[in-house]
This record gives sequence, C-alpha cells and structure tokens, in this order.
Amino acid sequence: MSTTEKDPHGVYPPSPEFVRHAHVQGIDGYRDLYRRAEQDPEAFWGEIASEQIHWFEKWTRVLDWQPPFAHWFVGAKTNVSYNCLDRHAASHRKNKIAILWEGEPGEHRHITYQELLRLVCRFANVLKARGLKAGDRSIIYMPMVPELAVAMLACARLGITHSVVFGGFSAEALKARIQDLGASVVITCDGGYRRGKEVALKPAVDEALAAGECPTIKDVIVYKRTGSNVSMTSGRDSWWHELDAALPDSADFCPAVELDSEHPLYVLYTSGTTGKPKGILHMTGGYLTHVTATMKWVFDLKDSDTFWCSADIGWVTGHSYVVYGPLSAGATTLMYEGAPDYPQFDRFWKIIARHRVNTFYTSPTAIRALIRQGDQWPEAHDLSSLRLLGSVGEPINPAAWEWYYRVIGKGRCPIVDTWWQTETGGMLIAPMPGAVPLKPGSGTLPMPGVIPDIVDFHGYPVEPGREGFLILRRPWPGMIRNIWGDPERFKEQYWTKVPGAYFTGDAARCDSDGYYWILGRVDDVMNVSGHRLSTMEVESALVKHPFVAEAAVVGKPHEITGQAVCCFVTLKKGHASEHEKLGKELRQWVAHEIGAFARPEEIRFTDALPKTRSGKIMRRLLREIVSSNTVSGDVTTLEDLSVIANLAAQTDED
Ligand code: WT7
Repeated sequence: MSTTEKDPHGVYPPSPEFVRHAHVQGIDGYRDLYRRAEQDPEAFWGEIASEQIHWFEKWTRVLDWQPPFAHWFVGAKTNVSYNCLDRHAASHRKNKIAILWEGEPGEHRHITYQELLRLVCRFANVLKARGLKAGDRSIIYMPMVPELAVAMLACARLGITHSVVFGGFSAEALKARIQDLGASVVITCDGGYRRGKEVALKPAVDEALAAGECPTIKDVIVYKRTGSNVSMTSGRDSWWHELDAALPDSADFCPAVELDSEHPLYVLYTSGTTGKPKGILHMTGGYLTHVTATMKWVFDLKDSDTFWCSADIGWVTGHSYVVYGPLSAGATTLMYEGAPDYPQFDRFWKIIARHRVNTFYTSPTAIRALIRQGDQWPEAHDLSSLRLLGSVGEPINPAAWEWYYRVIGKGRCPIVDTWWQTETGGMLIAPMPGAVPLKPGSGTLPMPGVIPDIVDFHGYPVEPGREGFLILRRPWPGMIRNIWGDPERFKEQYWTKVPGAYFTGDAARCDSDGYYWILGRVDDVMNVSGHRLSTMEVESALVKHPFVAEAAVVGKPHEITGQAVCCFVTLKKGHASEHEKLGKELRQWVAHEIGAFARPEEIRFTDALPKTRSGKIMRRLLREIVSSNTVSGDVTTLEDLSVIANLAAQTDED
C-alpha cells in the first residue's frame, strides 16, 4: 500500500490504494449517496434496508414521522437475531468465525456463525422454558464473555427487551435500572477478570435484590466464568450450565420470532442532566438497518476482515459495533475481556498482532493512556495487518491523532473519527474512509440521511464557521424512540429547544468545507474516558452521605481521561475536621453509589458554594476554577464573592 500523504493544510486524502478497494470511492461517491438520501430519504433507506436486511414481511411505509415520534419500516416484520445469525449460518459464512474471543487470563474461543446460532438457540430455549416471552424485560449484568452476546441475541430472538448494565456499575445503580425497567430476569456471572483480579458480579446482584426491593424479578441466571464461590438463592437463582444441561437435544434450534419493526430491542441507561439516568429505547428494524449500513460505509467492511471494537458491551458502542453491527454485517468481531494494560502495556498491540486484526476502533482515552507508556510497546509487535483505525466517545486531540496515525497505523491507515451518541443508535457524523479526506480532530461529514445544523440560543442557524448547538433536522433509522416510561422527559430533553429538531446537547462548529468539529457538551454532563456521567448524579450520591450538606460537581480537564470528576463539598456542622480521611471516604462512597468508573478525582471542601441570588449553583465559575484556578467574567450576581476567592486559593485537599 502506498502512504497516505498529508497535504500542507492538515488534510489527509485517502490513498489511491485504499480508494481502489473501498465500498464508497472518492468524494463523488459520498456526495452521490448523500444527495440521494437528502432528496428522497424514504426511497434511500428503503433500498438500503431491502439490500442489507432480511425481512419476514415488507413495510407499508418506510417512515411515519410525527415529531418527536418516529416509526421506521411501518408494518414490517424482522428479527435482529435472525439477521445476525441464521442468514449467515445458511450462507458461505456458516463456518466463518463470528466471535473471536480473548479472555484476560489468555484463553481463546473461536465461535463460528453456525455454533453461535446453536448457543443462542439453546439459551433462547432456556429463557422460553422459564416462561419468558416477547414484551418481557431482562437485565444483563455480565463481563465481556461471549455469553454476554449470546444472552443479548437470545433475548432479541424472542422479543425480550434487554438492558445491559455495564459490569462497572454498583449494586445501587443496578437496582435502580431493574426497578425502572420492571425486569423479570437478571442474567449475570459469578464474576469476571480485570487486571488479574476477579470482579465479583453475583454479590452485587444479591445486594440489589435484597429486602424484596425488586419484586418483578423472578429469575436470576448465572453463567460460571471464574468458578469462585457465590451464594445461590433457591427458587430464584439457577446456573446457566445446569439449565442448559436439562434441555432436550431438539433445543439446538429455536425459531426467531417474527417481530414488528418497531418492537423494543433494548433499553440502555445513560446519564442525563438530572440525578436519574434515562432509559434510551431502541427498536428493531431501523436500528438494525442503521448499524448494518454504517459497518459498510464507515468501517468499509470486507468479508475477510477481523474487526475489533475495544468498547465494553455495557456501553452503546459495544451494542452497536461489537455485537449487532458486525454480526448483522457478517463480520468476525473480536471481543476482549480485560484491561488494555494487563499484564503489560502492550496487550492491545499483542492482540492485534496475534489475531491479525484489520480494523481497530477505540477511544481517545485509551490512545492517550497508551501513548504515555512509550512507543516501544507497539513497536515490539507486527501491526501490519491493520488497514483502518477508528476513534469514538470524545474529541480526539491532534497529538493523539498523529500518534495513532504514525505509530499504530504507520501512516497507511485512515482514522475514522465517529461522532454519535447512545441516543443516535449508530454513527451520524463520520468519514467514509475511501471517500472523505480526513482532518485530525473532526468527525468530518454527516452520514447519508443526516441533516445537522448549528444554531444559537434562539434556535437560529449561526453564521458559517461559528460555534453553536448541534442539532439534527431529520429523523434517522437508529434514532432513540423514547425514554423508557417517560415520554415527557423525552420530548422536553431532545425536542423542545428547537421545535421539530433533535437537540444533541453538544456544541459544534462547521468549517467552510462542511466539516463538523465537536466541541463538547453544553449541558451538565461530563465525559470521563468517553463515558457519560451527569454532574447531578454524582451530586445526589454525595448528599446521601450523612456528613455532606451540599455538593457541586464539575468536569475538570484531564490529560488522559478528557475530563475528571471534581467535587465541591460543604459539610454539615460538626464535621469540619479530617478532610483528608473524609475525602477518601467520599470518593469511595461515590464509587459504591454509582460505580468505580465514577470515582471522583478530587474532593474540595468549602464553607459555601457560589450561588446566584436565585440560589442556583454557579457551575460555570466552578468549572473555571478547576480548569485554571482563576476566575474571570461577570460575577456581579454572586451572593458572596469571598466564597469564590477562597475556592480559587484552595488547592487540592484530597
Ligand atoms: C457524547 C455521547 C458514541 C458512543 C460513545 C459515547 C461525545 C462521542 C465523539 C466524537 C467528539 C464525541 C459527544 C456526545 N462524543 N463521540 N467522535 N467526537 N465527541 O456515547 O455516552 O452517549 O456520549 O460523547 O459529546 O454527545 P455517549
């Protein structure tokens, strides 16, 4: 392959070699698709859906759009599990590896499409035998083992709406999700491995279900991963392998239920601007079409590719680009259980070399953390199998981009910087790598059918090149359909700011080439290691502590994780001493309330929080304090200026 050369303006056009083999070739190829989708979105998506997805019954209309409620492929019947498995098992892909799994301790499993279909059917039959059926809800709380994907696909096969809860969430967070969803089954593991240690999961399930606080749960199914001792509650808990062993031989097959295109596939909880996480609802046909199409457009997927997205399946990236997108597109998807730095800093590079990975999709946080360890780690491995790199979750800074491009991609591999959200289901702004010249730090151009705009406070488009709020003017197939159980919040959060348009919550700028530059969140949502976390959620956790009177939380710029959680805390009378000990305790408290990934970097104690005269905490000021330790701007509405002076003078108490 020839080298992709950088032009003097920092634009990286695709190499002729890459273009020659790409699904979408050259900027005209992109523009043609984009124009067709813009002119007649229904015809465009109807064609994509017919070509790429199996339907038991076709739609009567591609789209029924009654803002903010969309129905895609109205009246059509399909099944996600069928599309991910049966159709490939009945093709030349029957013996192709579907899931290539590497456990953290070093085991490997190579599961073919045929075998994955069998595993999914057997587990679907287990669920069926427990009386579970379409319309029921399940919670899946598992580490990155193939059975996590098996559980998702088995639920999808029967029409059981699943909600995967990331294994890093605490028992408290798990309980809140079980209750909100009204789930009847929890599918879990004894534990998983992370940095050589066991992360116990079953005890957290027991804690969440204790004291009858989750009365809807009838069943807990436990997959044995670590073999450690767990307690099993009789009448409620069963071992996966025992239920499997009790199945008849005929259980190797279980027909996929022909589901409505708008059947709820999954709910994924994410942080909003309040203390309560919101259950983002995704449906069947539109979501499947969107994630399948973007596999081809953005990852330029080839049948021979080994595709690796390093995200945990507990986040949307893992749903769409570890499980559903790759499997629907018939890819070999690599799944790795553990940490990038275990047992050494070259684990990712070792995996790429060993399995001859062709496409690698990861987060800027992971890249920055690995840069810090030095080039000797990637340089010790043969990374020549790579042909495409990807980035997701947060803006990628030019230095990290450059390193990823030179040291990992050896200047041969385009980097697709993909902007999207839990709510969008799949990518919305991302380059087609054989068509769109790259600019480091920009997600480049919108996907076909996506009509972004940048608007001011009043909802009017800003002048070209100016910053503003990123909105989306048209519905797209993978879009959020509702917030589980809270349509009012759904309308209010996304659809009222600019009537008829979707409000992303991100600030952005569009340059003179039409490239989008995402600048970050405009609401009280932090982005820590590419994971969304609400300031209010952390604040609610802190004020539950008996010593805490008030708390204000802001994101602080962080070299590796993008942002880090920084908390300002006022204590109740009589607890003013021992800041150091209490700081540690509060950090642990938040980890227990939400999950280890939410553990604050910093706790600052203060006598009072800066508030406006109407009593609102001035987060903008706090953000300035943590970013620069100086304060500027208009503080005339401040109740007590001395509070600011004290906060700025104080250094990290923790
Ligand atoms: C928020 C969504 C998309 C799956 C992972 C995160 C930020 C995401 C990018 C990117 C700049 C990005 C945005 C967005 N974000 N991708 N390529 N460049 N920012 O999903 O937890 O729903 O978070 O992540 O701020 O709104 P999420």
